[in-house]
Amino acid sequence: MIKRALLSLTALSLLAVPAQARTWAEIKQSGTVRIATEGAFPPFNLLKGKQLTGFEVDLANQLAKQLGLKVQWVTQPFDNLLIGLNQDRYDFVIASHGINPERAKAVDFSNPHYCTGGAIVAKPGGPLTAAALKGKRVAVQVGTTYLENVRKVPGVGDVKTFPKDTDAQAALMAGRVDAWVGDKFTGIDLVKAQQGKVKQGDLLFNERIAMAVKKGNSSLLKELNAALAKAQQNGSYAKLSQQYFGQDVRCK
Ligand code: ARG
Repeated sequence: MIKRALLSLTALSLLAVPAQARTWAEIKQSGTVRIATEGAFPPFNLLKGKQLTGFEVDLANQLAKQLGLKVQWVTQPFDNLLIGLNQDRYDFVIASHGINPERAKAVDFSNPHYCTGGAIVAKPGGPLTAAALKGKRVAVQVGTTYLENVRKVPGVGDVKTFPKDTDAQAALMAGRVDAWVGDKFTGIDLVKAQQGKVKQGDLLFNERIAMAVKKGNSSLLKELNAALAKAQQNGSYAKLSQQYFGQDVRCK
């Protein structure tokens, strides 16, 4: 019995994990593209009940449609996404990854699908500038560019990491930290939702956000870039961006 259970487990994992990244031709032939995201990073990728939604989810669904593909979504903790990509668990990742040299060593990035930055949010009277973060406790999501950049702030106090960005925000609201650093658009939504209980401060850094494919998967990358360019030309990207942000968030 146990042996059999073990065997079928092995068989399952073999089925679930192909040995190599699927090329564009293979994906096209299968008719379905496998896309991974976190599903906990509003307004970019989030779960509403069981429904995966957000700017990036809608955008990727649109790109897949343009490419004539069905989508199979996979959700993973943010910190696992690029690891799973390199294990060929899915074809690409769209989860607000900022392009940085460290990540670019591990994966290949598409052209950016939006531009943004990391900003400080604190309660009124709390630290709202980089200088004011001196000696202060700051909450950030683990594995993010926020962590990397907050650590660079001279004299910054305790930097606390959370598995989910929403947990880092909750720590600020509960007063367990003095500030939260996260995406500037997420910050705008947080300030609105909290109706004056928090304020947005300085932008600490800017970043270009892109989709990631397994290193070397140039055939898929080419199709994704072409689909993105088309969406940005035919107005569908602009419409989606207006819907989520009231502005066009493409990189200029
Ligand atoms: N833009 C930041 C980064 O590149 C945060 C991304 C977080 N994404 C998410 N799905 N939680 O690290």
